[in-house]
Amino acid sequence: MNGKKIFATYLKDQIGSELTLKQIEAFIEKPKQIQHGDLAFPCFQLAKIFKKSPNEIAKTLAAGNISDDFEKIEAIGSYVNIFLNKKAATESLLTQILKEKNTYANHRFGNGKTIVLDLSSPNIAKPFSMGHLRSTVIGSSMAAISEKCGYTTVKINYIGDWGTQFGKLISAYLKWGDENKVRNNPIKELTKLYVLFHEEAEKDPSLNEEGRMWFKKLEDHDPKAKELWIWFKEVSLEAFHKIYKLLDVDFDSYNGEAFFNDKMNATVNVLQEKKLLKLSEGAQVVRVGDDLPPCLIKKTDGATLYATRDITAAIYRKNTYDFDEAFYVVGHEQSLHFEQVKRVLKKLGHDWADHIHHVSFGLILQNGKKMSTRKGKTVLLETVILEAVKLAEQNIKSKNPELQDLQDVARQVGVGAVIFHDLKNEKGNDVEFSLDAMLKFEGDTGPYVQYTAARIQTLLNKGDFNGSVPKELSIGLESWEIISVLNEFPEVVEQAFHRKEPSVISKYVLKLSHKFNHYYAHVKILNSKETPERLALCASVQIVLKEGLRLLGIRTPNRM
Ligand code: ARG
Repeated sequence: MNGKKIFATYLKDQIGSELTLKQIEAFIEKPKQIQHGDLAFPCFQLAKIFKKSPNEIAKTLAAGNISDDFEKIEAIGSYVNIFLNKKAATESLLTQILKEKNTYANHRFGNGKTIVLDLSSPNIAKPFSMGHLRSTVIGSSMAAISEKCGYTTVKINYIGDWGTQFGKLISAYLKWGDENKVRNNPIKELTKLYVLFHEEAEKDPSLNEEGRMWFKKLEDHDPKAKELWIWFKEVSLEAFHKIYKLLDVDFDSYNGEAFFNDKMNATVNVLQEKKLLKLSEGAQVVRVGDDLPPCLIKKTDGATLYATRDITAAIYRKNTYDFDEAFYVVGHEQSLHFEQVKRVLKKLGHDWADHIHHVSFGLILQNGKKMSTRKGKTVLLETVILEAVKLAEQNIKSKNPELQDLQDVARQVGVGAVIFHDLKNEKGNDVEFSLDAMLKFEGDTGPYVQYTAARIQTLLNKGDFNGSVPKELSIGLESWEIISVLNEFPEVVEQAFHRKEPSVISKYVLKLSHKFNHYYAHVKILNSKETPERLALCASVQIVLKEGLRLLGIRTPNRM
C-alpha cells in the first residue's frame, strides 16, 4: 500500500503541470489527529500559482472522483484531507509485510554503492571507553541501516596502535612490568604501568627522554621494542574481542594507525610537491583557511601525526574501496581534526573529500560529568555489560521462572538494554549513564521493546497463527492506528539513513510498541471472531519490531 503515491497521483491529475509528482509527494503530510484523515495536502503554496485562496483551492482539489483506494476526500480549511479505504489498505499492507518479512522497508536507492565506516577504533593498552562503545553501536547501526537502503558497507576498526605513548609504555614495562600480571589482566596492568610512568616522570623528568628513545627504537624496527609492541597489541585485541563478541559486532578490516607507517611518506611527498607544506615553529603544517588552525603534518622531530595518518588512510581507502561516502563515527571533540583532514584532502585536489562525513556524537556522563579515562576512574565496559546481563537475568527470572535458555536470553536482553540506552536519543546529545534505567522492562527501554515482541510470539503460538491475512476484514480504529504506524516504516528507515541518526529507528520501535501494548490491553486478540486478522496484525508488528531492533544491533528473544 502506498497511499501517499496514490494520493499524489490523484492530486497531480487535478493540479496539472504546475507541480511535479515528486513535489506534490513532498508536501503531503500526516494529520496530527487520525480523525482528520490519513493524509493531508496543504494548499498554501498553490495560492500564488493559481491566484486563489488556499481554501478555495482545497475545495476544488477535493471535488474530483476518487478511486476505491479511498474512503472519502474532504477540504478542511486550506487542506485537502484524504481517508484511505481502511480494509483495502490493511489487507494490502499486512499481506505485503507477511510476505516480505524482514525485507519489508528495504530500499534500493543505495544502488550497491559503497559506504566505508570508520567505527569503534579503541586504543590498545587502554580501556575500551564509553566513547568507543558509542562509536561501535552508532557505527554498526548506521552500517545496517545503509545496507537496508541498498548500499554495500565496509566497516573499518581503525585501532589506535601507534604513537609516542607506546615508547613510554615499553619503558614502563621494562622497569616495573610483570609478564604474568599483564597476561592475566592486560588492559588493567598496562594502564597501571602507563599511569605509573606519568607519576614517576613528574618526579624524574629524564624518564620522558627514555620514553622518547623507546618510541624512536620502535619506529626504527628495534626487535625488542617491536616484540613488546606486538604483544601489547595482541593482548589488547583479545580483550576488545571479548567485548565485540558480547555486543555481537564484527568488522571488515582492523587496519589501524600502524598500518599506515610505511604509507605516510608518500603523503608528505605529494604535499611537498604541491607546495602545501609550510614551516611553522619548526613543524611542517598545511594552512587550511583563516577560520581554522593549520593542520600539523610533521612535528619538529620529524614524527608524523594523527592527521597525517588519517589523510593517508583516507586516500588508501578511496583507492582500495572506491567509496561513495565515508562515515567517521567519532565523538564531537574531534570535529576540528576531521575538518582539517578534509580541507587538506581538498587542497590535494581530492574532491571526494566532500563525501567524508564526521558522524559525531556526544559524551556519556556519570552524574552529569564526563567519564574520565585517566586516574583509573572509568567503569570498564566489559564489567558494565556483564552487570547488565546479570541484572537482566534476575529480572527475567522473577517474571518467568521456568524460562529455558535463560542465559542466552539474559545476554540478549542485557546487551540490548545497553545498546538501546545509547541509541534512543539523538546521537549529538550527551547520555547519562545509568544501569538501572537501562534495564527497566517498562518505560522507553530496549527490554520493553524486546518484551513486546516476545509477548506477540506467545500470542501467535497460542492462537496457532497460520501466516495469512483473512479476506473479509473488519478493521476498527484501534488496529488502523497500528496499520498507519506500520506503514511509516519504509520512510523511517530512509530518514534514519539521511539523517545518519539511529535514534529515528529507536523512537519508531518505541512508538510501535506503545501503540501495540495499548491495543493489547483493549482488544481481545485470542478467542474472538476477529482472531485471524488480529493475529496477522500482531505478526506484522512483530516482524517490524524485530527488524527495527536488528537495525539497532539488538536481538529479539522469542520468549523472556
Ligand atoms: N583511536 C581514536 C580515539 O580513541 C579514534 C579514531 C577515530 N578514527 C579516525 N580515523 N581518526 O580517540
